[in-house]
Amino acid sequence: MTLRLGDTAPDFEAETSQGRIRFHEWIGDSWCILFSHPKDYTPVCTTELGYMARIKPEFDKRNVKIIGVSIDPVDSHRGWLADIEETQNARVTYPIIADADRKVADLYGMIHPAHDEVFTVRTVFVVDPKKKIRLMITYPMTTGRNFDEILRVIDSLQMFDKHTVATPVNWRPGDDVIIPPSITDEVAKGKFPKGWRALRPYLRLTPDPSGS
Ligand code: BEZ
Repeated sequence: MTLRLGDTAPDFEAETSQGRIRFHEWIGDSWCILFSHPKDYTPVCTTELGYMARIKPEFDKRNVKIIGVSIDPVDSHRGWLADIEETQNARVTYPIIADADRKVADLYGMIHPAHDEVFTVRTVFVVDPKKKIRLMITYPMTTGRNFDEILRVIDSLQMFDKHTVATPVNWRPGDDVIIPPSITDEVAKGKFPKGWRALRPYLRLTPDPSGS
């Protein structure tokens, strides 16, 4: 199945390093980041899982749950998590799915046979509380992901959901945001009391409405 933005994230039941879960139920009213790893005990993934453990408080602040997936069984995950704690100086407190039968990998199209026939590529899915897929990024196996960028996108998505604004290139919280062209000047007057700068009628910038 080819997944697209806006699709409902496929639900599944799976064993994880923290017990059995049903994915949608586990997400509950939170956002979720689901990210795949080619295999346990691989070097790039080890650094990624450690980094995610260190920045987990940033995801918590945004009401985002983290879950990894790797095509090895739970026993293997447990041993690997101990290695991660020792080498990356971070304890992984989020679950890792044990996807030995590749059910989740197949559901989410994480195996790209022309790239590698056996192991998953590095995918990242951001799922919102309505279980809709809001972001999908695929990295090659040999490139570690930039999870600060994923946090930045989550900030942008949550800003859109709350204030109906878009965010410009390389936006960071606190920077000006964009009033989408679908909002007329009349409506914008009520919605953005701080006003805006119109560089063109279609390019209107307004201060970050969240007040960060
Ligand atoms: C890894 O660390 O996940 C990895 C590194 C090189 C090739 C494939 C995977």
